Amino acid sequence: MGPSRNHRVGVIGGDGIGPEVLAEALKVIEASGVDLDLVEYDLGGARYLRDGTILPDEILEEWRDLDAILLGAVGHPDVAPGVIERGLLLKMRFGLDLYVNQRPFVMPPDLDMVVIRENTEGTYAGEGGFLRKGTAHEIATQGSVNTRFGVERCVRYAFELAAGRARRHLTLVHKTNVLNFSGDLWQRVFDEVAEDHPGVETTYNHVDAACIHFVESPERYDVIVTDNLFGDILTDLGGAISGGIGLAASANLNPDRTGPSMFEPVHGSAPDIAGTGRANPTAAVLSAALMLEFLGEADAAERIRKACTGSGQMGGTTSEIGDTIAAKV
Ligand code: IPM
Ligand code: MN
Repeated sequence: MGPSRNHRVGVIGGDGIGPEVLAEALKVIEASGVDLDLVEYDLGGARYLRDGTILPDEILEEWRDLDAILLGAVGHPDVAPGVIERGLLLKMRFGLDLYVNQRPFVMPPDLDMVVIRENTEGTYAGEGGFLRKGTAHEIATQGSVNTRFGVERCVRYAFELAAGRARRHLTLVHKTNVLNFSGDLWQRVFDEVAEDHPGVETTYNHVDAACIHFVESPERYDVIVTDNLFGDILTDLGGAISGGIGLAASANLNPDRTGPSMFEPVHGSAPDIAGTGRANPTAAVLSAALMLEFLGEADAAERIRKACTGSGQMGGTTSEIGDTIAAKV
């Protein structure tokens, strides 16, 4: 990324409310004064139904030259589960090595936490298969892949993030009492990396207990690091306790910057309300703020975040909410 050129950003509206909320995010970015060179991609369930295209390798290669990707939402009710999720979203996360999924949850005055979810391994890796499929003796396995390399780079990222925050607190969330192989690796790596960060206070919670704490006393958390599936589940809960999933933003990061990072709302394509103007675009706008921050536009990102204060509860249509945020930026 040279200083003299605009950020080149790939944009994928996707399905359902995706294009609607993405349009508002772009509107707000423009109001912030940051210039982007946008490259649009028509991908998602609707495109797949039209011509069978999910994510061709050539497009993935083309993306390596981008600075970032902003995505609205993908998922279509007429497409079987897994096709777009694995073929597009996970192919993107794995192919671009977006190994950190960063999901902040903020609810003044007390709640300010960030979940760091490992984004390329675990049960998402696709290890497993069927034996005797379709018979009465069918077997399905879905292994959890945990490499020392993959766990360590994610845990290191979480420690570095925690070290730079006011509270400097990091919680490992896992299920070490039952997952005695993967949990053991996570705990050992966590303890080893902790030695390099004496300034960060650490603790450990089982994932089931963490669910109770999320509901009863989430303000106890600062930064959380966890595996892919626990992080998926915990971050929906995080959205639910911090103003609703319509507010939850996420960054799929390649912290080594060997390629673009991808930014998307935690929510899905909500086909039931697509086209009605009822989608709140705040999660997409906040995802855009995460993107600008990662691109070095910290000032614009902060202005956008501030402009979103209260927008999760705002009445009005998708574009009216976008206008209101844009006017405050
Ligand atoms: C998310 C979503 C995805 C995930 C799905 C759509 C593959 O739920 O980003 O949290 O499970 O990671
Ligand atoms: Mn999820």
